[in-house]
Amino acid sequence: MAGTPETPKESKVEIAKRKSKHLRGTIAETLASGATHFGADDVQLLKFHGTYQQDDRDVRQARRKQGLEEAYSFMVRCAIPAGVVTAEQYLALDDLADRHANGTLRVTTRQGIQFHGVVAGDLKATIAGIHGTLLTTLSACGDVGRNVMCCPAPLADEAHVTLRTVAAQIAADLRPKSRAFHEIWLDGEKQISTQDEEPFYGDRYLPRKFKTGIALAGDNCIDVYSYDLGLIAIIDGGVLQGYNVVVGGGMGMTHNKPDTFARLAEPLGFIDPAHAVETARHVAAIFRDHGNRSDRRHSRLKYLLDERGIDWFRELFRAATAFDLQAWRPIPKPSTDDHLGRHPSGDGKWFYGIYIENGRIKDDEHAKMKSGLRALVKKYRPGIRLTGTQNLLLTDLDEADLDQVEDALRSYGVLPPTELSAARRYSMACPALPTCGLAMAESERVMPSVVDMFEEEFTRLGMRDEPLTLRMTGCPNGCARPYTADIAFVGRRPDVYHVYVGGGIPGDRVADLFAADVPKPDLVTTLRPLLTAWSKQHLPTESLGDFYQRLRGLGEPRQKITGKEEPTGTLIQLEIRT
Ligand code: HEM
Ligand code: SF4
Repeated sequence: MAGTPETPKESKVEIAKRKSKHLRGTIAETLASGATHFGADDVQLLKFHGTYQQDDRDVRQARRKQGLEEAYSFMVRCAIPAGVVTAEQYLALDDLADRHANGTLRVTTRQGIQFHGVVAGDLKATIAGIHGTLLTTLSACGDVGRNVMCCPAPLADEAHVTLRTVAAQIAADLRPKSRAFHEIWLDGEKQISTQDEEPFYGDRYLPRKFKTGIALAGDNCIDVYSYDLGLIAIIDGGVLQGYNVVVGGGMGMTHNKPDTFARLAEPLGFIDPAHAVETARHVAAIFRDHGNRSDRRHSRLKYLLDERGIDWFRELFRAATAFDLQAWRPIPKPSTDDHLGRHPSGDGKWFYGIYIENGRIKDDEHAKMKSGLRALVKKYRPGIRLTGTQNLLLTDLDEADLDQVEDALRSYGVLPPTELSAARRYSMACPALPTCGLAMAESERVMPSVVDMFEEEFTRLGMRDEPLTLRMTGCPNGCARPYTADIAFVGRRPDVYHVYVGGGIPGDRVADLFAADVPKPDLVTTLRPLLTAWSKQHLPTESLGDFYQRLRGLGEPRQKITGKEEPTGTLIQLEIRT
């Protein structure tokens, strides 16, 4: 049972959770009233149910001037362990997007799917509709165990199948047990007593979100070091040996606050395959009992680990578990496969990975991605896997179908990944404006044009096809994991970004602040000396991030970056001999 004594210091959100009758609040009453939006406490509770109240920021000022209320709508997110979706589920989601949302689906950076623009009156139909497909929005957001990520490659060997199952088991184990979700959205019967509804979480749930990912030693396509808990599967001779466990990662920080930071998860030890679910529960329990509940800016597990240290954490973990936490096993430096294009699944079938710009599945003047995918899913009834890089894989295809799939996509304006520049293929951006209430600058809407500019630069330098990650977020919360990218732009204010450099595709170090407060039109020129030097002086297969780190000469890769740093750009440029 959670140790949740009432303390005078608890934050407003803690109070809202505690008084919510296990996530009920007054959500049902507000829905029934036909209101366009919810009160502050319910807005917090709605997150646990998988939805964020938002308003259209493009029209916010104008509406306020006219004395109108905000144009409220809701983002609705599905939590999809390991990103596994069936053809039937996909078609149902595609249909829901047209009926209740803004006609687009968004593949998220954590293997979920989001809808935007759902109005309050459609919220129930949307959430119930998703539930009807046997997917769920429960715990897609909120202070609970979030979606559990896992390498999406549909490889048929036993070890890969086990990992996907374990992802689903951890997700189910950490899902809230309150009947509130069924009562509110599915018209389930009201419970008479709500006393023992959450045997694990108690009445205040976790101090903040808790993210878990499962990667493979050697393939970190899910960015495993970015999460509160990471399990790194070690497979030998096709057999799963167990997991190296890492804890305390997290991306979010606040500009100019040196006591907030992005941090990579650090090694805890090695566990046998049978103990994955229990490990997740025990790590989450330590967070539940010791995490900061008064200041949400310092609530994440990473702050607890930073303050108390990994040895303290390991001791608590060992005391709570009956099984052996073994010594960390050496693993190779990770690389990352984006799984795009054609690949055999190992059982005679094939899968085909499709690049989706910023994860937004839509029809527009450039491409009819949404119609194209719907047509392909209808025709081939493939399995679907969402990747952790906002892309999508079609699985269970026959080799003979691959050319037709590629031709069909091309006819909808969707290019094969082999024809994309590396800058575009590996790029990611968060939604930001107009939906996200926290955005300080544009992200998804301007990223395609920013990638255009860099594509041109890399082509000029003869580096068009050199793999590198380019990421953008509208604020420092880091939803598109900017701090592990080769290059990232993090919004400061409209049209102005901090530029980070020095992460990389393997995701095992964080970037430095390279240049502060750079206007969007100057992004390329700010980086030009470094990019030029890279093009001329890089060692064979040396990525931009690796090259930068060599110039920087820090030795050990950086594991943490705070919200207030001195930019390194000037320093580095002095050393560039072009
Ligand atoms: C303090 C930290 C954070 C806050 C307050 C926050 C809040 C939000 C909000 C409000 C949205 C909705 C935006 C929209 O769809 O309009 C969002 C989207 C999202 N966030 Fe975060 N976020 C935080 C950090 C993170 C981090 C570190 C990750 C992942 C490593 C993450 C993963 C996501 C994902 C997957 C989405 C969906 C859109 C996408 O794929 O880009 N968030 N977040
Ligand atoms: S990074 Fe910031 S702007 Fe982008 S979606 Fe997350 S919270 Fe919003």
